[in-house]
Amino acid sequence: MKVAILGYGTVGSGVFDVLTENRDIIAKRVGFPLDVKYVLDLREFPGKPVEKYLTHDFRQIIEDPEIEIIVEVMGGIHPSYEYAKEALESGRSVCTSNKELVAKHGAELVGIAKDHSVNFLFEASVGGGIPVIRQLIRSITADEVEEVCGILNGTTNYMMTLMRETGATFEEALTDAQDKGFAERNPAADIEGHDACRKIAILTSLAYAKQVDYEDIYTEGIVSISDIDVAYAKAMKRGIKLLGRSYLKDGTVYAMVAPCMVRKKNPLYPVNGVYNAIMIRGNMLGDVVCYGMGAGKLPTASAVVSDVIDAAKHRHVNIPILWEKEKLVLGAKDDMDGKFFVRVAFADADKARALFPIAKEISILECEGREFAFVTEVMSEKAFSDAAEKIAVINRIRYEI
Ligand code: HSE
Repeated sequence: MKVAILGYGTVGSGVFDVLTENRDIIAKRVGFPLDVKYVLDLREFPGKPVEKYLTHDFRQIIEDPEIEIIVEVMGGIHPSYEYAKEALESGRSVCTSNKELVAKHGAELVGIAKDHSVNFLFEASVGGGIPVIRQLIRSITADEVEEVCGILNGTTNYMMTLMRETGATFEEALTDAQDKGFAERNPAADIEGHDACRKIAILTSLAYAKQVDYEDIYTEGIVSISDIDVAYAKAMKRGIKLLGRSYLKDGTVYAMVAPCMVRKKNPLYPVNGVYNAIMIRGNMLGDVVCYGMGAGKLPTASAVVSDVIDAAKHRHVNIPILWEKEKLVLGAKDDMDGKFFVRVAFADADKARALFPIAKEISILECEGREFAFVTEVMSEKAFSDAAEKIAVINRIRYEI
């Protein structure tokens, strides 16, 4: 069976390597070999093994009847969307790691694949190499999903870990992540939470079989987290994690991306560095946690190739994925409940005591006499923001109940 790869960047070159290096073992598992026939890229790679597969023309791929599986790893929406759509409509399966494409057009592309008895598969779009999508749609099928909660971004988790372990400031942690190649030169998508937002939108769409628009998910990144916040978290034996979370409550689905101070006994607490982990709670099953490399060339490529193998094993057979185009209307952020860790100026302590229901007061040596810090009782987001408007809050972080 012949495969074409669209894009020879980090993930595309990884897919090429996995398919060529593991060719024999993959052939055994599928029953026949999977061979790369084309790699689409604008660039030339003189002297590299990929050179003889290179094409600059998508038409050459789509017009070649031998190509049965197309791997889309170019990123972005255009022309990825147009290419994926045309490929599916022409009877090819498409496997992608492109979370923007999946979050935006997943429901439509899944539907087109079904209509043409082929497959649109996207395991690598969430959690890099972690097989979380397969678990959600093919393993946890007997349950109603009550909650999905994950560390979905490796870059920010690396930064939070570094700040905790070394006392680094936010800026120092970002520079280190950039130097090590974990963060992009323009790190906005990671540190502002947009990457995690698209991933929780995909997982929530799959959990509830409807379209969750990522624009509807309240999203905060880690940009407001300072070394002082990390010191408070440490004093409370908690860890600050950027969480993508959605849950079902009284028939309504709520979703949010925000940093949270998690307890030591939370299975996500020990997840450090560039690792990701996702907890899925089923109403019969209880909690399942998937853990692994959430990014990186080979882990991500491994997940893409696992989809290629699935597509090859299901030639002309659609693997059912329930994802309707109908929009899932999320519950209002204001109605979400939780506790908050809050810092205000020391002079505002009495004002804060009058405004918030306070569960406990916290003090650390670094801020003694300068700040008043506390954890609230459980309150709604609306009640919290109404109170917070009346006082100058230095920072506030959601706090696991
Ligand atoms: N920038 C992403 C991360 C890459 O850090 O997790 C994987 O989507």
